This record gives sequence, structure tokens and C-alpha cells, in this order.
Amino acid sequence: MRARPIGMFDSGLGGLTVLHSLVDLLPGEDVIYLGDTARYPYGDRTVEELQRFSRAIAAELLRRDVKVLVVACNSATAAALDVLREEIPIPVIGVVGPGLRAAASVTRTGGVVVLGTTMTVRSRIYETTAADLDLELRLTTLACPGLVELVERGLTDAPETLPVVRERLAPMLTSRTDTLVLGCTHFPLLARVISEVVGRGVTLVSSADETAFEVRDLLLRMGWLQDRESGGQMRLLTTGDPVRFRELGQRFLGVALPEVAAVRLAGLEVSL
Ligand code: DGL
Repeated sequence: MRARPIGMFDSGLGGLTVLHSLVDLLPGEDVIYLGDTARYPYGDRTVEELQRFSRAIAAELLRRDVKVLVVACNSATAAALDVLREEIPIPVIGVVGPGLRAAASVTRTGGVVVLGTTMTVRSRIYETTAADLDLELRLTTLACPGLVELVERGLTDAPETLPVVRERLAPMLTSRTDTLVLGCTHFPLLARVISEVVGRGVTLVSSADETAFEVRDLLLRMGWLQDRESGGQMRLLTTGDPVRFRELGQRFLGVALPEVAAVRLAGLEVSL
């Protein structure tokens, strides 16, 4: 088990923010990342669609022998974490619990706003998970449609991005908030613009580091942690355009990425 890779997925580039933290913390692990770019954005999909996509991706990654599955996407976590946990024979880790724990550790006032996709906000997954984890936070969630598209189109620092972010965040600007959860794994790639809009007094937290810690703790518990010397291979797959995925991924993460391979998911059309 130890030598097997960790599997991760997202609707596209966003989960690379989680991959980055994971590779940083666990350099000895082999990781396979799948970005389902052909079907993004996930945030406007139905629960049924995201369960179908998540099942197909899990099947693809299981075929590649992964030992753990990281759902590096809030929308898929909201729609499909429970079904994946029931149906697949390996541990599954989502990003919502880790994001909330990160927020709870930095907030001074307990006033926390979660920015997410429409799917994530509608699902109320942040509220239910905070209750399950016994976190005493005053949570407000805010759907921010359109931001994922800006990231996938490579427009994180384009002039048209600031007004869109300002408009989406307007409802929270008057609230007494000291902590903002980037409750979509694409949003850390917009952190600079978001910070400019909300001001320095608001701490931005993402689930990336905390998710990596959760994966490490799980691997330690199971005795599946890979030795530092032995692994460290990263494989990237996308259902979209591999060249573009690699180019944008490198630009956003500031690190060289390996070749990206195209993948088709059994039972799903290429583009819906
Ligand atoms: N990055 C994903 C999330 O965390 C999906 C965003 C999308 O495709 O809409 O929700």
C-alpha cells in the first residue's frame, strides 16, 4: 500500500493549490492529479451530475491504484464526499473540514465568511460540517459565480477581474468579519485581488495546507507514509487541453510542472 500514489481531483486547475501544499509537506509521495476541465465549472452543476463525475473519476484513479483519494474541490466534496466514502474501498478526504479548521485557528472574533460556488453554498456543507466538528463560528456563506471561469481562462491578474471580484464580494464588505475562507480551491489563485477588495484586516484562509496535514495524519495512522527518498513522482491528467493546463498551472503555481496527459473518463462524454 505504502508505495501506491495518492489520487486527487478537481474540476480543473483549482485543486493544484491543494496539490502544491501536499507535495510540499509530503515530498516522498507519488501523486496522480486529475483536472476535469472538460466539465468545469462544477459549481453550477447538480448534485446528481457531480456524483456521476466524481464516481467516474474515482474509478479512473482506482484503476491507477491510488491508496487515498483527495477530493480537492469544495463543490465535489459537497455533492459526493459521502457517496464516495460509502462506495469506494480506500479512504476519501475532502476539503471542507480542513478549511473550517484553518479558519477556526485564526479567527479572533468567530465571524467567518466562506466564499464558494453556488453548489457549495446551496448545499450548506460548511454549516453542517462546522456543527459536526463542534466549531463555534458565526458562518456566513457567499456564492461567487464567475470567479472559477476567470481562473480557468487565465485572467487572475487581468484588468477585468478586480471589478468582478469587487461586485461578488460587495455583500460581505459591511459585515464584521475577520476571516475569509476561500471555499473553492480555485480562489487562492485570486487571493491577491480578493485581499485588495476586502482589505488587510481580513485574513484569507484556504484548505490546502490543512488538507495536506490531514492526508499526512491518515497515512501515518495507516502505516502508508512513503519514504522521502523513494517516491515523489507527480502525474497530471486532464480531460481538457493538456498543453493549456500545464501552461496555466505553471504560471499560477510558479513551479515547473511535468507533462500533462489527456484522459477520457469511461461512461462520460468528452464535453457536456
Ligand atoms: N475548485 C472547485 C471548488 O472548490 C470547483 C469550482 C468549479 O468548477 O466551479 O468548488
